[in-house]
Amino acid sequence: MIERHAPVKPLVERLVVVGLGLIGGSFAKGLRARGVCREVVGVDLDAQSRRLAVELGVVDRCEEALATACQGADVIMLAVPILAMERVLGELAKLDLGDAILTDAGSAKGNVVRAADAVFGGVPARFVPGHPIAGSEQSGVEAANGELFKRHKVILTPLAQTDALALQRVDQLWRELGADVEHMQVEHHDQVLAATSHLPHLLAFGLVDSLAKRNENLEIFRYAAGGFRDFTRIAGSDPVMWHDIFLANREAVLRTLDVFRDDLDALRDAVDAGDGHHLLGVFTRARVAREHFSKILARRAYVDAMHSNDLIFLANPGGKVAGRIRVPGDKSISHRSIMLGSLAEGTTEVEGFLEGEDALATLQAFRDMGVVIEGPHHGRVTIHGVGLHGLKPPPGPIYVGNSGTSMRLLSGLLAGQPFDVTMTGDASLSKRPMNRVANPLREMGAVVETGPDGRPPLTIRGGSKLKALTYTLPMASAQVKSCLLLAGLYAEGVTTVTEPAPTRDHTERMLRGFGYAVQSNGPVASLQAGGKLTATRIEVPADISSAAFFLVAASIAEGSDLLLEHVGINPTRIGVIEILRLMGGDITLENQREVGGEPVADLRVRGAKLKGIEIPEELVPLAIDEFPVLFVAAVCAEGRTVLRGAEELRVKESDRIQVMADGLTSLGVKVEPTADGIIIDGGQSIGGGEVHSHGDHRIAMAFSVASLRATAPIRIHDCANVATSFPNFLALAEQVGIRVAVEGKQ
Ligand code: S3P
Repeated sequence: MIERHAPVKPLVERLVVVGLGLIGGSFAKGLRARGVCREVVGVDLDAQSRRLAVELGVVDRCEEALATACQGADVIMLAVPILAMERVLGELAKLDLGDAILTDAGSAKGNVVRAADAVFGGVPARFVPGHPIAGSEQSGVEAANGELFKRHKVILTPLAQTDALALQRVDQLWRELGADVEHMQVEHHDQVLAATSHLPHLLAFGLVDSLAKRNENLEIFRYAAGGFRDFTRIAGSDPVMWHDIFLANREAVLRTLDVFRDDLDALRDAVDAGDGHHLLGVFTRARVAREHFSKILARRAYVDAMHSNDLIFLANPGGKVAGRIRVPGDKSISHRSIMLGSLAEGTTEVEGFLEGEDALATLQAFRDMGVVIEGPHHGRVTIHGVGLHGLKPPPGPIYVGNSGTSMRLLSGLLAGQPFDVTMTGDASLSKRPMNRVANPLREMGAVVETGPDGRPPLTIRGGSKLKALTYTLPMASAQVKSCLLLAGLYAEGVTTVTEPAPTRDHTERMLRGFGYAVQSNGPVASLQAGGKLTATRIEVPADISSAAFFLVAASIAEGSDLLLEHVGINPTRIGVIEILRLMGGDITLENQREVGGEPVADLRVRGAKLKGIEIPEELVPLAIDEFPVLFVAAVCAEGRTVLRGAEELRVKESDRIQVMADGLTSLGVKVEPTADGIIIDGGQSIGGGEVHSHGDHRIAMAFSVASLRATAPIRIHDCANVATSFPNFLALAEQVGIRVAVEGKQ
């Protein structure tokens, strides 16, 4: 525990806490213990509580009468039951409170604000309504706990007229107690709480009572297992307090309850009709929502521990790599498996699916559009396809996080739907260019709206009649090619796309795997609308883009010998192998075979003496995602490496030319970034230091690999997005001998 000393000048001279139950008592006790108030005065009607409050050190003194307690108060906290608020506010309105700040801890805000308005004849500017989201099944001043609010949310709901200094002061008091304070509108607060707290309590109380009533001897509870206990834990809460809350937050509770009743009726009908599809849909969606929720909680705890959002990898220098690993499934193929599986007729089984945030964003998008998808569980996903015309409007905007592939490919597909959809992304994706898909889609007749400068969010209006397009891509981009081919599934005529250089052809291959004819002739791919997709089985090979980090790691570390199993070696993806071989890398392909239309092999890589090369431009699109780590290889090589024709690197998850150049410079390596590439003189020593990934997963992993040849530790900032493509990177890196871990967790 950190020792806290009383500040020289206390924040508050006199704090008055009215109501010394669990919440009021904990607030008083916590602030008193932290020495932020000269005096803490309690008010309680119950004599026993008043005595205990002083004995237990909750307050300095305690009064029965509000008027006596409030004399000279700076801050008055109302922590009385919600239905008593109006009466207490009414008494306060009769007193001369001077400049005292008034705040409360009621669980519903609308009724407290209305009461203040009524009794004061307008809500006072120095009233700051608030609600700490904390509590327990315990109650009373004996349960007061000064640490109760630590890492809990406190919502303040200031009004337009609320005094800024008063708000700041209340905010500060809660922060002193370790709370995480947020501000929200009154109505929003009440609606959110009705859904996340009040409705569950109503259901728990209701269910236990309903069962208990029908089984008076309570015999059935003997058979109740953990599920019942967990679900009904909150039925042990204080009945009087909850009775008050439902009366206080009536409107918001009714709104959420009515929506829930409709959903419950639909579930009832599904059970009645034997509609397993509906049940599976609800249960799979609920399960992921629940997992998402647990992750948020876990992340919050973690972030709290670190006091920041910055996930730092600490990569210690030296080592070599050895062993045998399988990196996760291919990201591009995983995205496409969900998209085509959803639009197919029948049930598609996927194995080896990448459970990274990007592919999961695509999966969630289709769940949002009504597709029932089971899993992923150990890379297995079962997709209950709805056919090309079976998607439903999502309940709100589709959030695709960091994933450019999701946004660009989906835009093509969505252009063919009868409903409107808006897609949004995280800060990095929100800076990436979308006109490359929006413009040709508009030429096909789609209505596509973008944010300023063609950046996300993207809104695609439904119901447009698409006509086929013959289009020559201005840049080598598989995402744009795929977007247009997917739109072509819905466009009248033959859609033809010509690419300036070969790019990954997973969309074409997978469409054929689903029985859809796609013509490919050199740089030209075309398809005709009007066909259908038939469900199939997909085995996703390991991602060569993830394997690339280990190909370079083993190449640059003397004495390394590593086997990477089952890696996809589609000819449109093997640029990294070809470039490393040109540099003198020792990579052999073993056990070559084909799975589900994609070639795979085990890659054996050993340490080698690399030399610098001029990277052939035709290899650039075939290694586009691998350049960050290839730059590391170039630094470790003898002689100069020159990359040209790679301006696309500037519009990836970060500007990969600049961000890598900056990072290398921080490590004492001189490089020369150019408009479309970089010049790296190899053989320079890599020092230690701080580098920033700018939220780009591949930059974070590239610098982790660089540590093998560094002379001192490298701290890599902003690494959380490694989870987008390679969630178990650190575990595999450690397993083979790269000394990288989350800082503080070594
Ligand atoms: C991808 C294509 C590439 C690549 C991205 C995945 C795909 O993007 O960088 O990681 O799955 O089609 P571009 O099409 O922008 O080159």
